[in-house]
Amino acid sequence: MSTAGPSPSAQRCCLSVPASDERKVAKALGLDVDEIVFDLEDGVAPGRKAEARSILVSALSSQVGKTQPVAVRINQTGTQWCLEDVLACVAEPRISSIVVPKVESSSDVHFIDRLLDGAEAGASRQKPLKVQVLIESAQGLANLRKIAKASRRITSLILGYADLAASLGTRTPVQANTWLPAQHKLLTIARATGLNAIDGPYLLVDSGPQFLAHLQHAAALGFDGTWVIHPGQISTATTEYTPPPAEIARARRILSAMNEGHSRGVGAVSLDGQMLDEALAVSARRVLARSAATTDVGL
Ligand code: COA
Ligand code: MG
Repeated sequence: MSTAGPSPSAQRCCLSVPASDERKVAKALGLDVDEIVFDLEDGVAPGRKAEARSILVSALSSQVGKTQPVAVRINQTGTQWCLEDVLACVAEPRISSIVVPKVESSSDVHFIDRLLDGAEAGASRQKPLKVQVLIESAQGLANLRKIAKASRRITSLILGYADLAASLGTRTPVQANTWLPAQHKLLTIARATGLNAIDGPYLLVDSGPQFLAHLQHAAALGFDGTWVIHPGQISTATTEYTPPPAEIARARRILSAMNEGHSRGVGAVSLDGQMLDEALAVSARRVLARSAATTDVGL
């Protein structure tokens, strides 16, 4: 299958919300955030999956005003809930993507892709659902390249730390650099396949210095955004993943200097005492693309 799927949009901050909690679902739908991820999986008790689906569908169909992108984390392929989750998402036009958890191989993605093809045709759904892949096991990491290329619906790769720690046998307390190899692998594959790289949630509800350090570390590596678990974390996360005006202005100056150089027939030019070549132009274009995606969602 081709890897040229829909172009990724802004996912600086994605708020995870248990779909079984009516109060949190209603609260989330009133918030300014790049994406809301309603959870039907591990944030919902096994006995409440059907109820969670119906709370979600009823809240979405009666929502007025805001139109934030809505994603739904379905239950893993092979569970008794996965099929009903997929059918509920296909039937609800407010939902734009599904997050598939615990993806371990490209066949997990192929299964969801074909299921969606049939369900969308049956429901005459206008806009195909996008797929976001949650990588949270040794198998998932090992097979990541094939997974990322398994469907044109895929827009994002997300790292899930809690299950990954369990799968790898990571010991607590986790050190700051413990996740670096996994982060680097996910980021590399995301860049190689044109997908968004989304950092997993910091599992404490606070939004203090430790949270900020966690965000800054992943943003500096090059991640496009992060999941958060509490409304109090949205503004800090959104700010950390938004290119500041000075960075945007500098990117514009770099591209303008490079264009001017090309018109003179040179590939390397100097700006403010720094040598510029195509490598810096690539980074500058990425900053402008991130800024444009941000404008798209009107935040
Ligand atoms: N989405 C929407 N609203 C949320 C929220 C969330 N993720 N987390 C908290 N809130 C709301 C609460 O309902 C409360 O609203 P209220 O003042 O109108 O009652 C307010 O924000 C303050 O919440 P607080 O009391 O600080 O937290 P809590 O004890 O109610 O909830 C958690 C703490 C961790 C259970 C909650 O943040 C949560 O469920 N997070 C998401 C968990 C999840 O999705 N896990 C799976 C993916 S990792
Ligand atoms: Mg998980």
